[in-house]
Amino acid sequence: MSNLWYPFTAMQEWSQTSQISIEGGQGNYLLASNGKHYLDGVSSLWTNVHGHNHPVLNAAIKNQVDRISHSTLLGLTNPLAEDLAKRLVEITPQGLNHVFYSDSGSTAVEIALKQAFQYWQLTGKPEKTRLVHLDEAYHGDTLGAVAVGGIDIFHEIFGPLLIPTDSIPCPNSFHRDRSANQEQAETQSLESLQQLLKESASKIAALIMEPLVQGAGGILTHTPRYLSQLAALCKEFDILLILDEVATGFGRTGTLFAAEQAQVNPDFMCLAKGITGGYLPLAATLSTSRIYEAFLAPREDGKTFFHGHTYTGNALACAVAIANLELFEQESTISKLPPKIAYLRGRLETLRKNPNVGDIRQCGLMVGIEIVERENASAYPTKSFIGDKICQAVRAHGVILRNLSDVIVLMPPLSIELPEIALMVDAVQSGIEEVCR
Ligand SMILES: Cc1ncc(COP(=O)(O)O)c(C=O)c1O
Repeated sequence: MSNLWYPFTAMQEWSQTSQISIEGGQGNYLLASNGKHYLDGVSSLWTNVHGHNHPVLNAAIKNQVDRISHSTLLGLTNPLAEDLAKRLVEITPQGLNHVFYSDSGSTAVEIALKQAFQYWQLTGKPEKTRLVHLDEAYHGDTLGAVAVGGIDIFHEIFGPLLIPTDSIPCPNSFHRDRSANQEQAETQSLESLQQLLKESASKIAALIMEPLVQGAGGILTHTPRYLSQLAALCKEFDILLILDEVATGFGRTGTLFAAEQAQVNPDFMCLAKGITGGYLPLAATLSTSRIYEAFLAPREDGKTFFHGHTYTGNALACAVAIANLELFEQESTISKLPPKIAYLRGRLETLRKNPNVGDIRQCGLMVGIEIVERENASAYPTKSFIGDKICQAVRAHGVILRNLSDVIVLMPPLSIELPEIALMVDAVQSGIEEVCR
């Protein structure tokens, strides 16, 4: 019996089945103890960027480990944490000048929520305490992040523990109302936000959202137009905008950050996952000078942001993150994406004809394939676990994927090559046919 309790896993079933154990990685592949290699079709939970076992990233860690692996940022500084902060400010949207580190997407979100809350406490509007989020949002699993989440299967049970929040409709209506088109769904969401802000802006501190793609909600996409109009409403009503780019950041949507596609300059940006190229846990919450300066005061005024995690600014993580950013430059990672994205789009067109495919949503190299019953195109009963079964079947074709309920997610490393894209899509096609026929 294993002593390990796995994340997001029904342990009874898991412990009764055999599992693939990963012992190595090379490029876009995972090497398993069963001797097989598998294409890493979800970038090891949306983290890997330039491939596994990359010599440059390996060297960055090896060099650093001979100097020091960790020293605290509480009362000390270190050159790598400083250097990385400078680089992050340079590459993120204008105005984000300050970097607060932590170690996961959830903590990056907690920090943004707490800083946004404290900002209004410090600037004479203590009644601005409420947080707004989108339905079907996912911002992590710590309690603050769960409070601004909107995925019932993950979040509902924790309801009694959560701070109250306000939500607006998801701008992608596939799960709610398939008769609405994208434009109608976005308009409905924006109108609902406008109404909420008209009534309650004086009580609202911030709005948090995943720009362009609501990932864990099922790769629910929306247009840059929606994002820019939402940002404009936040500005008009003086609501702080937190963009959670934990999943979309570092090239996943085709640009370095999703916000670029709508030319939005948020008050906060949360980064994690791809920041270290998928090597080590590191996260950053960026904020503007308007926010940062509200906390500047003599120590005795009590304006300090009392928050910090033990491994904040870890030297190994910062070293590999810097090397990862340099790889974006050296390997022209972003400018190599358009042909990959177009090729993936082309391959997915064939899949669209499959009667079990209800919708395909793609933004850059983020894809969600919605599985439906072939007879009437309606959702499968929840307990049929159709998405799980398809992902299991796909493994026999040499590809590791992970579903979100009935949505098959493709999110390969940015280093994926065209033949590997073909392999991945063909494997999904076969998996659907084997399971659903
Ligand atoms: C948009 C978004 N925010 C936050 C998180 C939470 O990140 P972590 O699992 O590192 O806490 C995730 C994880 O998938 C995410 O997709």
